[in-house]
Amino acid sequence: MNEIRIQIDGKEVRVGEGMTVLEGAQSAGITIPKLCHHDKLVPFGGCRLCIVEVGNGVSAKLVVSCVYPVEENLVVRTRSEKIDRIRKTILELLLAHAPNSPELQVLAREYGADKDRFEKEASFCIHCGLCVRYCNEVKKLNAVGFVDRGIRKEIAFIPGIAARECKNCMECFPLCPTSYLQAAFVLIEALAFSTTSSGTASTE
Ligand code: SF4
Ligand code: FES
Repeated sequence: MNEIRIQIDGKEVRVGEGMTVLEGAQSAGITIPKLCHHDKLVPFGGCRLCIVEVGNGVSAKLVVSCVYPVEENLVVRTRSEKIDRIRKTILELLLAHAPNSPELQVLAREYGADKDRFEKEASFCIHCGLCVRYCNEVKKLNAVGFVDRGIRKEIAFIPGIAARECKNCMECFPLCPTSYLQAAFVLIEALAFSTTSSGTASTE
């Protein structure tokens, strides 16, 4: 991969051409917070926590670093008062859904986010899509998907596939930032799967 020069937080670094800003920062050992990004998955740009500022003066703008491509001499700032304020609000909104998520709590401490700022709507899933996309893109199984839309959107295991595949996989479980996925699986397992005398999971 050809390399290009960019500047991140005042430091000149060389990154791979064609990388996103997030990938470039990661390759240079610079951390940008992220919730919906995974190195094996197609960039999604859903959570917006990875926003950074690029450019200088009047041309400076906020971009979503996990989908924004690097270009020669790009100037990137990963922290500023404005960026931190936006991340704080995003985290406060997410904490209304999943107040006990350890991953969110760590980020909340870093950005001074108040978990009680917004009224609780404890859905526990923050719609990062990691589980759904991992199952689709990496495992090619589609055992878990989103159902409904807008505020009613939620993840659901597809019983016929999940009963057959998930027990031997569970690779998506540790990706979930809130542990909701595991809870949802235990529930569907109890409600929809039955176990035959041979120990084989079945939906009958
Ligand atoms: S269940 Fe977890 S991994 Fe799946 S979309 Fe919700 S928060 Fe993300
Ligand atoms: S990590 Fe970039 S939008 Fe979620």
